[in-house]
Amino acid sequence: MQYEVVLPAAGSGKRMGAGQNKLFLNLLEKPILIHTLEVFEQDSQCTGIWLAVKPEERGFIQEMLERYGISKVKGLPDGGAERQHSVHSCMKEMKQVDIVLVHDAARPFITHDIIANLVQSAHDFGAAIAGVRAKDTMKKVRDGVIEETIDRESLWMIQTPQAFQFDLIVEAEDVAEKVGFLGTDEAMLVERLGHEVHIVESSYENVKMTTQEDLVFGEAILQKRAKKQ
Ligand code: C5P
Repeated sequence: MQYEVVLPAAGSGKRMGAGQNKLFLNLLEKPILIHTLEVFEQDSQCTGIWLAVKPEERGFIQEMLERYGISKVKGLPDGGAERQHSVHSCMKEMKQVDIVLVHDAARPFITHDIIANLVQSAHDFGAAIAGVRAKDTMKKVRDGVIEETIDRESLWMIQTPQAFQFDLIVEAEDVAEKVGFLGTDEAMLVERLGHEVHIVESSYENVKMTTQEDLVFGEAILQKRAKKQ
């Protein structure tokens, strides 16, 4: 089953404290952005990649695409102030496809198996997102004091990719834009429409490169995978 992927890559990465877009930082001598792009470049079901970028970084990113032989990118529209705006600016340029995946460019360790499960589930149910079960005891805290311990069985930590049938995510984004709703992920926009969103069990390795510690963890994942090959 074919899909196109939207990769928001227009963040500033303040929490990384690198003084540049964190996606340009190397993990074992290759930029994070390229690691992520290569997953989709090599995924036979992926027929197109859309990258939301900062206008001032577009030229540099285009050079990187050429240098690393990334050929599936169909467009690099301007990102927006928030991640949701960046995703929307790609969606506005896309033509009708069966399934759209939205994936953080800062999550380079997503696997083909998880992608395939998401695409299948979005095809069957309309919307499906990646997540992992909460490992720790979870408590609700107010002003430094525990209010409640939440039943962990029902809690999942949500990641990307998030996969949708094209018409559903277009409607969800249009409605959100009209009423000025800002979600922390695309699934929230679909949930607001009253449409059910399915979960696909993902991997704890599918981490987002957010702070400096994540880079150490990220290199360890790459080294472990290289040894297995
Ligand atoms: O900051 P954070 O890591 O949560 O951002 C997730 C992804 O969204 C990153 O790949 C980042 O480049 C992207 N992003 C974006 N536009 C923004 C903010 C974040 O494309 N305004």
